[in-house]
This record gives sequence, structure tokens and C-alpha cells, in this order.
Amino acid sequence: MKALILCAGKGTRLRPLTFTSAKHLIPVANKPILFYSLEMIKKAGIEEVGIVVSPDNKKEFVNRLGDGKEIGLKISYIVQTEPKGLAHAVKVAEEFLNGEEFLMYLGDNLIKEDLSGFVKDFKAGKYDAYILLTPVDDPTRFGVAVVKEGKVVRVIEKPKEPPSNLAIVGVYIFNSKIFEGVNNIKPSWRGELEITDAIGYLIDKGYNVGARIIYGWWKDTGKPDDLIDANRKILEDLDVRFIRGEVDSASIIQGKVYIDEDTTIINSVIRGPVVVGRRTRIVNTYVGPYTSIGNEVVLENCEVENSIILDGAALININSRIDASIFGKSSVVSTSDGKPRTLKFVVGDHSKIRLI
Ligand code: G1P
Repeated sequence: MKALILCAGKGTRLRPLTFTSAKHLIPVANKPILFYSLEMIKKAGIEEVGIVVSPDNKKEFVNRLGDGKEIGLKISYIVQTEPKGLAHAVKVAEEFLNGEEFLMYLGDNLIKEDLSGFVKDFKAGKYDAYILLTPVDDPTRFGVAVVKEGKVVRVIEKPKEPPSNLAIVGVYIFNSKIFEGVNNIKPSWRGELEITDAIGYLIDKGYNVGARIIYGWWKDTGKPDDLIDANRKILEDLDVRFIRGEVDSASIIQGKVYIDEDTTIINSVIRGPVVVGRRTRIVNTYVGPYTSIGNEVVLENCEVENSIILDGAALININSRIDASIFGKSSVVSTSDGKPRTLKFVVGDHSKIRLI
């Protein structure tokens, strides 16, 4: 079995972060989102992975992952020149897939589910398509499925009146029958070839479409709040206390905390779960639960919790507590003590700043 990870999306809702990074490579708990799925795919015994990229972001993925040897996978890149939908991405990958069964994974999704069981059930049930579903509060935002006696009998993309509360999670397994589906559907109202419609085609033709319902957490990391949420969920599961950096005697480290090499903590309180990267400096600061701090970050005289601070960022002399925030690479927020007491900004396109 191969894996196909779809990463061609532009991530417009995550601007400005996605001006300099593909959304799938933004770190959550100091690890790029895509790496979580690659690890799960590898754990499920799949070695050959095709990543569907856009002409704009291909280079970044290649630089980051190369041929995959370093992480024990064989990675190929497939360019989807236009964002014409998930079913279109499958068509574009036809040569790579070469008629084999494949696990398809939407690269901006994070799930807490062992995929080995999913793969095993697909094989045991002799399914043509097998999808992951989870109950949600607002099914209108997703593809939705109706399941009867273990079989999927209906799927519908973003229904106005959902026939169930089971959302299609962005993880699927298909055999080559899916090509009948993707080649026989028309673009949806949003102008895309929907994989949901291709699955619907298989159901109509009487093919064997099954589903596994999961109850663990799942996050589609499309918006900034989703990243903060995903960060919290991953840190919740942090089960190490690992302190390599230097912590002075005036500092207090509480709970599950990961502090990497060459980092210095001076006169500060770090209350886990928290991860801190390398060569970071934290002085006179409170770092509260669910905070991820990257490499070469500077935090001085501030209080921050439930936030993501990427490499090279600096937060200095901030008077209010920072919560639910994301700081991009090398961003700087500080106060000046000079006169006049004005606010001074250099704000990039699509940045969002909320003052009190
Ligand atoms: C896509 C799928 C949808 C699925 C969702 C999961 O939606 O079309 O069926 O429920 O991913 O994240 P999109 O993110 O393209 O709106």
C-alpha cells in the first residue's frame, strides 16, 4: 500500500504565516504538522509516500524532506498545477499510484488515531473505499456520511441539512476503483472535483464502501485558532519531563516540560505542559500551560500561555498576559520606555493584532 498526502492547498486563512511557509510545515508543539502524519503512516507499515504539492510550495517540501530517506520513507512529489479539488489531486497522482491500494491523507489534518488498525480493517473487509468518520457538532462544514450496518450508504459534501453528524475526517483508503469515481464526476458548486462525490459514485455503483468511526481528537488546521487548539491537544499528551537547558535556582519548573539544549531560563516560572527549543533565552518571565516555544526565541519580562512562538521570535517587556497567540518566525513585540508613549508598528500583510 502507498500513501498519498495532499499538500497543495495555499493556506490563505493562515496568512501571514503561510506567506513564508506551507501550512503543512508550520510547527505545532515544535514539530511541523505534516511530520505527525508521516510518522503515523510509517507506523502503519507504509513506506512509499507521494506528496501532492503546488508549483509554489514544492521547493519547500523538497528542501525539508528530500527523498525521505532520513525519516525512513521513500517520498515522491507530485505537482498539482491548479487547485481543482481532492479528486483532481488523485487523478494527477495516477501514475505514482500505479493501480495500487493507497491511504490518502489531507496534509493539514491532525488525528489521534493509530492508522495500523484502519489499514488492517480495510484489508479484512475487502473494501473498495474505507473512510474515517467522527461525530461533530457542526456537520455543515464537512463531508458527511450515513452509515447502515457498517456500510456507508450515502455521502454528501457540506450539506445544508446534514443527514447525520458523522463528518468525513481527511483520511481515506482506496483501491483503484476510485479512478472510476474521479473520472465520472463533475465539479461541485465550489468548482472542485470533490473526493466525496467520487465516493458517492462508488456507492451508487454498488461497490463496497466502509467506515470506521473514531472518537479521539481530530483537527483540520485551517485557521489560527485551530493551530492553538491542536497545539494544546498535542501538549496535553506530552509525557516527558526533559530538561537539557540551564535553569537558574530562582526559576521554577512545574509539570510536564521539555526544554532543549543550550536554552537558558533565568528567574522565571515555566508551568507545563510546555515545550522549549534550543538556544532560547527566557528571563523574568512566566510561561503558562500549553505553550510551544521554538529555537532561538527571546522572552523577557513577559507572561505568555496557550500560545505558539516560532523560531527567532522575541517578546520583550510586555505588560499584559499573552494568551491564544501565534508569533511567526523572527517576529518582535516589545515596549519602548522612551517618550512619547506611542504605539509603533511594522505590521506585515494580513497580520492580526488585538490591543487592550
Ligand atoms: C475536505 C473534504 C471534506 C472533509 C474535510 C476534512 O474539505 O472535502 O469532505 O470533511 O476536508 O477536513 P475542505 O477542507 O476541502 O473544505
